[in-house]
Amino acid sequence: MPDKDKLVIFDTTLRDGEQSPGASMTKDEKIRIAKALETMKVDVIEAGFPIASPGDFESVQAVAKVIKDSTVCGLARALDKDIERAGEALKPAASSRIHTFIATSPIHMQQKLRMEPDAVLEQAVRAVKQAGQYTDNIEFSPEDAGRSETDFLCRVIEAVIDAGATTINIPDTVGYNIPHQFGELIKTLIERIPNSDKAIFSVHCHNDLGLAVGNSLAAVLNGARQVECTINGLGERAGNAALEEVVMAVRTRQDIFPCDTTLDTTQIMRCSRLVSGITGFPVQPNKAIVGANAFAHESGIHQDGVLKSRETYEIMRAQDVGWSANRIVLGKHSGRNAFKTRLKELNIELATEQELNEAFARFKDLADKKHEIYDEDLQALVADTNWSLENEHYRLVSLRVCSETGETPHANIVLDVGGKECKADADGGGPVDAAFRAIEAIVNSETRLQLYSVNNITSGTDAQGEVTVRLEKAGRIVNGQGADTDIVIASANAYINALNKLIAPEQRAHPQRGDV
Ligand code: KIV
Ligand code: ZN
Repeated sequence: MPDKDKLVIFDTTLRDGEQSPGASMTKDEKIRIAKALETMKVDVIEAGFPIASPGDFESVQAVAKVIKDSTVCGLARALDKDIERAGEALKPAASSRIHTFIATSPIHMQQKLRMEPDAVLEQAVRAVKQAGQYTDNIEFSPEDAGRSETDFLCRVIEAVIDAGATTINIPDTVGYNIPHQFGELIKTLIERIPNSDKAIFSVHCHNDLGLAVGNSLAAVLNGARQVECTINGLGERAGNAALEEVVMAVRTRQDIFPCDTTLDTTQIMRCSRLVSGITGFPVQPNKAIVGANAFAHESGIHQDGVLKSRETYEIMRAQDVGWSANRIVLGKHSGRNAFKTRLKELNIELATEQELNEAFARFKDLADKKHEIYDEDLQALVADTNWSLENEHYRLVSLRVCSETGETPHANIVLDVGGKECKADADGGGPVDAAFRAIEAIVNSETRLQLYSVNNITSGTDAQGEVTVRLEKAGRIVNGQGADTDIVIASANAYINALNKLIAPEQRAHPQRGDV
């Protein structure tokens, strides 16, 4: 990039992304995502909010231990105890950053913090100075900057840069801003703050009006040199700016942007699938860059044009973001070695021999039902293995469902519940409904089904169906996933997966709610 500035990519899938209802991840899942982000050459990985819970602390610490090529960041409110905890969790990191924040908008200061502006400024400066005891890579965010008064923002930012902040992140916390106005805000801040050249300006945009990517790009055109984003746009409420969209817009329109990222964009699809598989948030087919239709040319005119010359309708190459034509990689006769080698080629690491054995057994089962096994099948299969090894209080032993024209569907199920086999049967409106009712006859979970969706992993009628089930209990929401060539079995497994996730205790603070 000789004549271009570097645009820093700060991924917050593991922190803001995890704030999406139902998207919580285990420590091992976070490590897998962090490793995939590192392979993609993401500059900064925000690994979590260490003060939130012992589990969050351990996850940030574990990511800090394994990641060597990206900076690992921990979030902390502008409070001594938060910063201390973040500093502690990040100790093992090869390169660490503390990201501290406090709200600066009138509504947040009055209603949430109940603090005067001068006290907020003082606390911000104090937090940045304290973070300096742990690292010299300090990011400060004036939360809800998009609704803050510009004069006050300038005062706070100047003071925290003097106190040692090296990155100033401007969040549009509630997704209220509009591109030209948000771009102007960034320009004004950089022009008016006397020491603005001592820090990198960053943006963190939420997507409540569908403008997170547009606002981020407007900010980049006006001097921001870091964008905070998430894989597939995951995040609080309507989500954050989607990493893949920001990165590909900048890369594709190098005629307009004065900067570029150093990301390996060919890893985008792999990261997208991994995050979708782990969180159970499917990617909509028409989603830019990573949706199943993003590079599909259905209409006759388009197909004709693309065949004559790709550029007639395609502005990017599918392979540049990691789309590969469905490739038959393995089949029924493939051995353990071939299986292991292909996983390695896909950058999928299984931590133990037991995990590999478990995954290979599932592969053999799948190969019996489906002759051609694609990369996508392997990815789904491995996602399944990881979860099942960690937390399985409930396990599906067998399921039999009768579904016949004119008859009420009926399911017989056997579940292993903590080592004891339990049987039940139930009628339902359809085969999936009957299977869920049979599970509930045993478990009696008192949950509410919030979402049920099925996606085909590859094409063809023998494709695996990937099912997501979202359950809610007493305000807690979890997503369960299952994949199988039989979608009723996939559905039952997804339901059971969600129930297993609900059993794990969860007590964590939310960084942006409640009093500081
Ligand atoms: O949306 C927001 O304001 C945040 C901050 C913590 C940066 O997530
Ligand atoms: Zn946010």
